[in-house]
Amino acid sequence: MLRLILLGAPGAGKGTQADLISQNYGIPQISTGVILREEIAKESALGKKVKGIIESGMLVPDEDVVEIVKNRLRQPDCKDGYILDGFPRTIPQAEALDGMLSELDSKIDLVISIEVSDGDIVRRMSGRRICRNCGSTFHTEYNPSRNGNLCDKCNAPLAVRDDDTPEVVEERLRVYHEKTASLKEYYEKQGKLRRIQGCEQLAETTANMNKVLKEAL
Ligand code: AP5
Repeated sequence: MLRLILLGAPGAGKGTQADLISQNYGIPQISTGVILREEIAKESALGKKVKGIIESGMLVPDEDVVEIVKNRLRQPDCKDGYILDGFPRTIPQAEALDGMLSELDSKIDLVISIEVSDGDIVRRMSGRRICRNCGSTFHTEYNPSRNGNLCDKCNAPLAVRDDDTPEVVEERLRVYHEKTASLKEYYEKQGKLRRIQGCEQLAETTANMNKVLKEAL
């Protein structure tokens, strides 16, 4: 059983690591960012409400994301654990999560913060490429597709995410420091926080992650 939260600035590598852990441990990756982008693509009421918020780099209201996670955690595939990637992002979201888990007589086992400097984040984001078809993430320099500008899993063309422009990345980083970074203290007080260095080599970050997972479990 592994109920894990990944913390880290935008572009720290949460999604990349969550995908690897999900494959290794056979538990679902729950990314609120991915779920919200799916709602935007479907042009649902929620998608229409959050499109402008996401594209400007601000946070979606707590009540909307809390509702998403509450429904997702009730799904049967979460019974043996899950990885929360991008949630919680504010103290009220963390408190709501504690509340919903205690109602289910459950708890978070471990919180891992991926530490990357702001300068490295800005450099990384400019090279990120995503596949809108299967959701895979690549990097032009650090994690290139073997298929050039096409996804090497499903062959669809790769794209730049709408919120990866330099101005929006700057805003997302500002919001991270203002609203999200304090979650490290929140989980440190609960004795659940581990920190790993998010290195420039993907394999090194993955090795750091695996070491902490082995030690903690
Ligand atoms: P979300 O999708 O969660 O974005 P984010 O947290 O900003 O994180 P990213 O997906 O940008 O980055 P990541 O850490 O997953 O890094 P990745 O693995 O891709 O949220 C988007 C928006 O939705 C938010 O701004 C907000 O508006 C809204 N939202 C979502 N959740 C919310 C919530 N709970 N409350 C309110 N609003 C919410 O890696 C980045 C790049 O680097 C990739 O190209 C990758 O290939 C590369 N890379 C990864 N690791 C390494 C490495 N070690 N070395 C070199 N390159 C690497």
